[in-house]
Amino acid sequence: MDQTNLIILGAQWGDEGKGKIVDLFSERFDIVARYQGGHNAGHTVEVGDRRFILQLIPSGILRPGKTVVIGNGVVIDPGALLQEMETLEAAGIQVRGRLLVSHRAHVIFPFHRMMEKASETRPGQVRIGTTSRGIGPAYEDKIARRGIRIADLLDSETFCAQFEQIVREKQLIARALQIEEPLDFAEMRSRYLGYAERLRPLVADVALYVNRAMDQGRRVLFEGAQGTMLDIDHGTYPFVTSSNATAGGASTGVGVSPARIHAVVGVSKAYITRVGEGPFPTECDDQAGQTLRQRGQEFGAVTGRPRRCGWFDVPLLRYTSTINHFASLVVTKLDVLDHLSEIPVCTAYRHRGSLLDEMPALARDLEQIEPVCETLPGWNWPTAGLRDYSELPPAAQSYLQYLEDRTGVEIGCVSTGPQRDQTILRPGSKLAKLLG
Ligand code: IMP
Repeated sequence: MDQTNLIILGAQWGDEGKGKIVDLFSERFDIVARYQGGHNAGHTVEVGDRRFILQLIPSGILRPGKTVVIGNGVVIDPGALLQEMETLEAAGIQVRGRLLVSHRAHVIFPFHRMMEKASETRPGQVRIGTTSRGIGPAYEDKIARRGIRIADLLDSETFCAQFEQIVREKQLIARALQIEEPLDFAEMRSRYLGYAERLRPLVADVALYVNRAMDQGRRVLFEGAQGTMLDIDHGTYPFVTSSNATAGGASTGVGVSPARIHAVVGVSKAYITRVGEGPFPTECDDQAGQTLRQRGQEFGAVTGRPRRCGWFDVPLLRYTSTINHFASLVVTKLDVLDHLSEIPVCTAYRHRGSLLDEMPALARDLEQIEPVCETLPGWNWPTAGLRDYSELPPAAQSYLQYLEDRTGVEIGCVSTGPQRDQTILRPGSKLAKLLG
């Protein structure tokens, strides 16, 4: 098989089950690279009777022998990263020697969380419903060219000078906004200098490493966090995260040319969920939505917040496929729909009486959209754990065929449960060929 480098990313608003899929497919790759976001992500992976929630470390870490890298596009809370490493190592997973962290990734500090809390709670501010991890303010500092990168943190002289400057600025803002939260900056500085020593052995020029590995024919899987509709440029702005969760983010967030990446695979639930504020055309806030939440265990892996649930949204998926050019789609949590005798699917949006062909940019328009739904027969039959497409009830196959026809994207894989083997990879699909 020729070298094929793939991106796997969320086709909806995150939480599509990418963790399991990356873990599963990483068997066929040498390196798994995370390219954006931070510890706002929560990738749940079940292996046997063990359940792992990975926030920063790519899901490939659960496959012995694979190298995992955290690219420059990720924002890193060193305390969270070290904690995650310790948890994995305590569970017998070897991390040291297999994880590399980009020296160009930006660092999250406690004052970022403080700023985020202030902007989420200040009267009159639009509340985004963030994960409160300081992600947005850390990216703000990066774009404003005053952020502190891992490379800076490792050079104590550079770090102390930059830290003093940024602290002065944060203190000014805190005073102006009357933020009362006491932060001990001297303690913070020495704590971060301590983190630097613990991180030093992992830090590398990840872009160089990945490019050289590709030169040698090693295969790379790029792991997206969050989802396309949370992308800072293409999502439901301003109700988005602060990074590029879309395919382009893989290139800038690791330092690999798009010309070296061969295909993009989207992951979508058989329905849809969203956490936090913002428009959600197919949201189901009645009993049917609650049942989906219960059956799908739709509670945030990081924050525990109940996820908002709704029906599969075809126009949304067509949009996210356009932005990412999906070669194939993985549909997860099909079994959550097993109880239904009828399944609504949104096929179009109506806005002020007319049908929309394109995804509106204004959040207000998206809030006002009415989903036009078609109702498909359910299968009322257990599909949990099925491993062969032909074992799926005919109505489940028709449902998937309908989604495929309407979205124009092949469904190459179906997940029927959280375990690795509760998966149907369709033989002969583009995805099966890409995986080799
Ligand atoms: P932030 O990324 O913490 O700034 O949050 C911005 C928005 O993205 C909020 O609506 C969050 O709920 C959402 N979000 C961030 N990370 C995830 C994720 O991993 N899954 C689902 N939603 C997320």
